[in-house]
Amino acid sequence: MADATLFFPKGFRWGTATASHQVEGGNDNNQWSVWEQTSGRIANDDRCGLACDWWANAEADFDRMVELGLNAHRLSLEWSRIEPRDGVFDEAALERYRAMLLGLRRRGIEPMVTLHHFTNPIWLEERGGWIEHDVVVPRFERFVRKVVKALGDLCDLWCTVNEPNIYAVMGYLSGGRMPPGRGGEIDSTLAVVRNLLLGHGAAYHVLHEAQPLARVGLAHHMRLFQPLTGSPLDGLMTRVYDGIFNNAVIEALTRGRWSALLRRGASVSARGLAGTLDWIGLNYYSRERVSFDRKNPAGLYGRIQFTPGAPLSDFGYGELHAEGMAPLLRKLARLDLPIYITENGLPDADDDQRPGFLLEHLRELWRHAQFNWRIEGYYHWTLVDNFEWGEGYRMKFGLYDLDPRTQVRTLRRSGMLYRDIVKTGAGGGLSSDHVREYAPQLLPTLFPD
Ligand code: FCB
Repeated sequence: MADATLFFPKGFRWGTATASHQVEGGNDNNQWSVWEQTSGRIANDDRCGLACDWWANAEADFDRMVELGLNAHRLSLEWSRIEPRDGVFDEAALERYRAMLLGLRRRGIEPMVTLHHFTNPIWLEERGGWIEHDVVVPRFERFVRKVVKALGDLCDLWCTVNEPNIYAVMGYLSGGRMPPGRGGEIDSTLAVVRNLLLGHGAAYHVLHEAQPLARVGLAHHMRLFQPLTGSPLDGLMTRVYDGIFNNAVIEALTRGRWSALLRRGASVSARGLAGTLDWIGLNYYSRERVSFDRKNPAGLYGRIQFTPGAPLSDFGYGELHAEGMAPLLRKLARLDLPIYITENGLPDADDDQRPGFLLEHLRELWRHAQFNWRIEGYYHWTLVDNFEWGEGYRMKFGLYDLDPRTQVRTLRRSGMLYRDIVKTGAGGGLSSDHVREYAPQLLPTLFPD
């Protein structure tokens, strides 16, 4: 078997990703803190509680990032802490975020700051959240203006919004998965996606006014859709799903145009969104098979499922399919912007799949970096097991295992592997020795003779 190392370029960003509500603990002023009060909504009726205790001590986990050799981390700001009431800002909360950003910088870790990652202050949610354009977009813009003024000397890499498509679908289409728990509301879903994108656009301009050299992008959740069978109708539905879920966001942000489906009921033009990306983020988790289903109008007559018989992660969260990143990266490469993998990971409590998952996905990423696609960083989801929204604490995405009761962390083998990859060469690298040590069964596919 060939011995080789696949080197990443010097300066490649190796990081992890987190979101405020999932790690900070003690967040009691956002819509998720209300949502979890009702039994049956969160797996095992878990409560977010202390999460990873970052509000008190994120720094202990920043030290862990240093141990892994990371030079980047993506974290989000909790709007409900910074603006606990409409128009009222909490300087102490901003101070705490300043301390966190400084703590990262002092450790040689470049922060990427997400401005909206699923959570809204209660006062905003009570006024309709992201449904009402005239309520939410100007307020988000005001929030961003405040943030860049307070934190701009410590951060210039901004991720405006996390996964507009997932936020809208889970809250307004799929029914009960995420607050506000609505289902089958196609028009609300579309309005929410559009308003999140318009919020992104407003933030882009505010950030650039304050920081001409700001690098502003968005984390786009893309899934690889493929037809379940060879039938033309399955093929058609696949194109519909790919169009709405994957392409519509890109089209709006690059061409300033709502695609045909996203346009339904639009009252605000997308024109101003053209060219509001300095980089694009890909959150990649899974592939989906699409079939035609005439009994499912709420799903636009389509149905999705994982490939029958394919390997799945814990609780059937996703299909393990690293090659699925390739067509998605190809779409993004056409934009000729820097690409960050802003999230990629899996729930795997016993860590039997994660080492192979990491090796396969990073091998895939390396391969495409060789095409001169502008892939500049990888942020693994996530550092330490955390509060996984409706799944509570049962889904374990961490490179470190967390006991939420005692706060004790234990480095998983996959964490050791990630550290070894990051510390190889000047910019990180994946070697046949890593595969031999952590997932020998993959040697023939990852390092063929
Ligand atoms: C993504 C979310 C992130 C986390 C991971 C597992 O869709 O952005 O907060 O829940 O999935």
